[in-house]
Amino acid sequence: METKIFDFRTNLNEEELKYCAKCLKEGKIGIFPTETVYGIGANALNNEAASLIFKAKNRAKDNPLIIHISNFKMLKDITKPPTKIEQQLIDAFFPGPFTLILRGKKNIPSKVNAGLKTVGIRMPENEIAHKLIEYAGIPICAPSANLSSKPSGTKLEDIKSEFMGKVSFMIDGGPTKIGLESTVCEVIDGIPTILRPGKITKEDIISVVGSCKLDASLFKESIATPRSPGMKYKHYAPSKPAILIYSPDESLLLKLIKEHLKPKTAIIGSKEHQHLFSKYQYFSYGKKNDLEEIMHNIFTILRKVDKEDIDYIIIEGVKKEGLGLAIMNRLIRSVSFNYLEK
Ligand code: TXA
Ligand code: MG
Repeated sequence: METKIFDFRTNLNEEELKYCAKCLKEGKIGIFPTETVYGIGANALNNEAASLIFKAKNRAKDNPLIIHISNFKMLKDITKPPTKIEQQLIDAFFPGPFTLILRGKKNIPSKVNAGLKTVGIRMPENEIAHKLIEYAGIPICAPSANLSSKPSGTKLEDIKSEFMGKVSFMIDGGPTKIGLESTVCEVIDGIPTILRPGKITKEDIISVVGSCKLDASLFKESIATPRSPGMKYKHYAPSKPAILIYSPDESLLLKLIKEHLKPKTAIIGSKEHQHLFSKYQYFSYGKKNDLEEIMHNIFTILRKVDKEDIDYIIIEGVKKEGLGLAIMNRLIRSVSFNYLEK
């Protein structure tokens, strides 16, 4: 298959974007940027188009896709009326890095939401994504654009080779603004429950509806049937063994990192600690307290480290609070739950 590449980094070309929208409408698949990570999209009302995504990503069939919309008519077409709390969340966080699990209508193809009664809906705010969906005139199902188990793509160049020849188009929109996938939230027994943490935090949700809890699966390794099926799969993993280390006590944290050093170790950690490990390959994810920056950099760094000639990876953790919760949720998965906290 020929893959057409469009460069919208400095300028969005309306005609080319309309071409991509037409491809999606016709049942082809393509890669586009959103404010969180790049997505690989298809017509969400077309079973065959959706199955092309599962094939291209090598994704497990029981892992449902998020449906992306650009207006509220699309929402009405595919979901049952939201409850009052769900509506408040929609009003507060659409468009944005937020996916809400709602009850789906029967017109959603079973391949798209893995035959569940519910469906994840997100309205991206990124201009390219928004216009692409609007021009296509149909909801677009789109998982993150990465081969299953690999880190999500936050720059087109990181994922190009994984999908060349497997998709009809790729749109380069530059590095994504946020860098981690959307917050996934489901209102369960009247309480918003975070199934996957992201830029929209528990505190943000509490400020809108007064309550919010974290799903039990966020930091657990093996729940047989988590509410968010994606949580049970291997994720974001480099090919070398890795450990994630954290302590709120700065000197203990450094001591633990030093104890785990081996000859060919790469360290992913804060800018402040870089000078202490000058003999090792060090990948700074940004300043300790700049969680937005860390969020933005983490997937690209995980991909970069994977290309180095090293035998072992040590990752410095952050405090599991605010945005730190989402960062740690991804990092713990990236080391396959090999996590040390003291
Ligand atoms: O930021 C994002 O959400 C990106 C961009 C492209 O929009 N998309 C994304 O999709 O991260 P994906 O497929 O990589 O992750 C979707 C997550 C999975 O963990 C999946 O299990 C969960 O959302 N999910 C989807 N539908 C669900 C449903 N009906 N019930 C529970 N979890 C659901
Ligand atoms: Mg993904």
